[in-house]
Parts: sequence; C-alpha cells; structure tokens
Amino acid sequence: MTRLPFELLPDNSRLSDSGSLQIGGVDTLELANEYGTPLFVYDEEHLRDRCLQAVAGFPDGAVYATKAFLCRAMARLAHEEGMLLDVATGGELHVALAAGVPASSLVFHGNNKSPAELELGLRAGVGLIVIDSFDEIDRLEELVAGGLPTPHVLVRITPGVEAQTHEFVSTGQDDSKFGFTVSTGAAARAVERVARSGAMSLKGIHCHIGSQVFRVESFADALAVVARFSDQFGIELVNLGGGLGVAYVEGESAPSIAEWAATIHGAAQDAGLTAALMAEPGRAITAAAAVTLYRVGTIKEIPDVRTYIAVDGGMSDNPRPILYGSGYETFLPRSVSAARPKQIRLVGKHCESGDLLVSEGKLPSDVAVGDIVATPVTGSYGHSMGSNYNKVLRPAVVFVADGDARLVVRRETYDDLLATDVG
Ligand code: LLP
Repeated sequence: MTRLPFELLPDNSRLSDSGSLQIGGVDTLELANEYGTPLFVYDEEHLRDRCLQAVAGFPDGAVYATKAFLCRAMARLAHEEGMLLDVATGGELHVALAAGVPASSLVFHGNNKSPAELELGLRAGVGLIVIDSFDEIDRLEELVAGGLPTPHVLVRITPGVEAQTHEFVSTGQDDSKFGFTVSTGAAARAVERVARSGAMSLKGIHCHIGSQVFRVESFADALAVVARFSDQFGIELVNLGGGLGVAYVEGESAPSIAEWAATIHGAAQDAGLTAALMAEPGRAITAAAAVTLYRVGTIKEIPDVRTYIAVDGGMSDNPRPILYGSGYETFLPRSVSAARPKQIRLVGKHCESGDLLVSEGKLPSDVAVGDIVATPVTGSYGHSMGSNYNKVLRPAVVFVADGDARLVVRRETYDDLLATDVG
C-alpha cells in the first residue's frame, strides 16, 4: 500500500472533486499560489479540538507548551480554549503577553532563566514559575528582596525514569541538565528550601520525562516516583509535563490526548497520588494540525542510486530530520490518493548535503518540476526551530477554517534579514 495514510492529515482534510487536498474547506493548491511556498497550513479546528481534549483531560490545568509552535494567533487560540501557556524563555513570555494572554495564565520554565527574564516574569505576574536549580532560588530571593512580587512556584524534580525516546529529547533520567534529582536528595533539599523561603510560595512540583513518548507506561513509572515524593512532602499540585508522542509516518500510532489523560489519572490513582494533576502537551496539540507545502524546483535522477527532489525550503523550516533522524511522509496535494511508487529523497535548497527533509520518501511517478509537494505532521518544532541559514526567508503561516484562510505569520522579506544588522 503506497498511498498516503489519510489519518496523518489534519482533521478537517477533504478531497476536492479533482482529488486535490482541501483543509478547513480551502484548497491547498490555491493557498500555495496565494501565499507562496514554503507555507505552513494549520487546521484551526484541529488545534481547538486538541486544546479542548487537553482541558477536559486535565481540568486542574492543561498547559500548552509554546515551544512546539508559537505566534500570537496560536497563543490566543490556546488561551481562548482554556489552556494555560508554558513559556520557557523571555522571548516566549514576550510573545504570549503580546498576544494578550494574561500573565496569570503563564507557567514560566527554563533551566537557566536570567535575572532579567525572572524580573520580566515577576513584574508581569506570571501564574507559576517552575524552579529548576538552586541558583534560580538564589536569584528569586534576591529579586524579591529588591521589592519584586513573591511568585507562586513549582519545583522541577528529575525522577530517574528513562522515557525511551531520542536522547536529545529525554529529560527524566538522572543524567540531565534539568531539574532537581530525586535519587541524590537534591529534590528533597530544594522543596525544603523553597517551603522555608519567604520569597516564594510553594504550590507543587513539576516533572517532565521527555518528548515524543509513545510508551504511556513511562508516565506511570514517573508517577510512582512523584507519588512517593509528594506523599513525603504533602505536595498538592503536580505538573506532569508534556511528551505525548504523535504518529509521523505510516505504521505509527499514538494515544490520543484523552487516552493519555485517562492513563495518567489511572496511574495516579494506582500510585495513591491525591495531588491535583496538570499536564503540558506541546506536540500533541499542534503537530498533526499542519502540513507544509513546498514547490518542486529541480529533480535529479541518478540511475541505480536515487532521485533527489529539491524544494524551496529545507533544514531552515524543518531541522528535525537532521537533528533527530525524524521521518515524514511526502505526497502531492494535487492527487492525495494517488499511489506513490516512486522512491525519492526530498531535499532543500541549502548549501549542504545534510539538508534533508525526507530521507526515504514516496511520490506518484508523474511528479514534475513546479508541483506542490507536502509533508504532513509538521505543526510542531518546525516553524519554532526554524532558522535563516543561508539567509533563506522564514515561511509564512496560515490558519484555515470554515472555508477561509488567514495569514498569521507573514513570509520574511529580504529587508527582514537586515533588520538587526546595524553594521
Ligand atoms: N514541558 C516541558 C517542560 C518541556 O520541556 C517540553 C518539551 C514540553 C512540556 C512539551 O513537550 P511535547 O508535549 O511537545 O513533547 N525539539 C524536539 C522536542 C523538544 C521538546 C522540549 N521540551 C523535537 O522536535 O522533537
């Protein structure tokens, strides 16, 4: 079966009479013509549905991890649907506030928040600060002694659990830059110190085991540690972080947010955890909501070796294949249900051989220069981890719903490349 598995497309995907892909009632080929390529196309109703699932699954606090994808429209959407927002830097904090999200709805993360970032958070009045180190406790005490407001905080603990995912996105094991290790006693010392400190009010603990986790038992393993720890310190609120994996390619399947929530609540009950539970999904909210549209520029056939299909984006709009060896599907939006017998390698326009978008892709055999080619499940950690490498312009982002498209991030211009260049 070489056809694209339709379940990888955004919820509101349909075929037009001619067999082309419509998302949210808008034809993707028209979007490519109107807004240019590369283009991130997000199904707005899909985003809203995932936010609602998260809110229903975690009524004590569903937090959208903005690092997955952030622009003002996304921040507003998550807030409108009742989510809190995880911001992990001063920059993410700034964008969330600029979107009009109240500071009280923000959860401020980061393993190395600078005094300036902490000051920004304290002055704005962020809802929770997640403390990651003893140095951060020192910094907060200094800032509060200097007259800034006393924050509500969570202490991030590292439970010593292997999440079984790529090592770059695994955070629960003891050998991690994040949080206070439970097994060394650092977590206990941190909680005791924060509880005694007059400069902050301890609300609970935080724990994030990693990202792109399919094995829900890993969350249960972490919960067992969290439950013992919470019991010991009378913790009443636990933020279990994010990490729920999504299916990227044919043959993969992942639990829904609702299933994940049910597993977590069940495991919490089994572990005797009575604290309120928050969670912080990023990828599970945004990844499958979007496809990226590219235009084919060149096709290079090397007999008996492979076919390179080069498009007008690349590692600057999706560095995940290079960073983590991540795979994606490829298809032609003009004929979504066509068989894809042609083995191809989808590459970008950057000046290096490593610039791969899809190492082993499949396309219909009539793919031609000028075609629009798409990669599904590109709504997380593509736009947000994008770059200007080779001074390639960052793509535009459109949200589509009910037959309408709205531009939420415009394409960069050559002038944007000089905006910070004061030389
Ligand atoms: N909460 C915390 C504290 C996190 O560090 C993260 C992700 C999340 C929530 C959201 O995780 P998610 O639900 O999206 O898995 N760039 C990598 C992923 C890095 C994730 C970093 N932290 C990737 O493209 O796979």
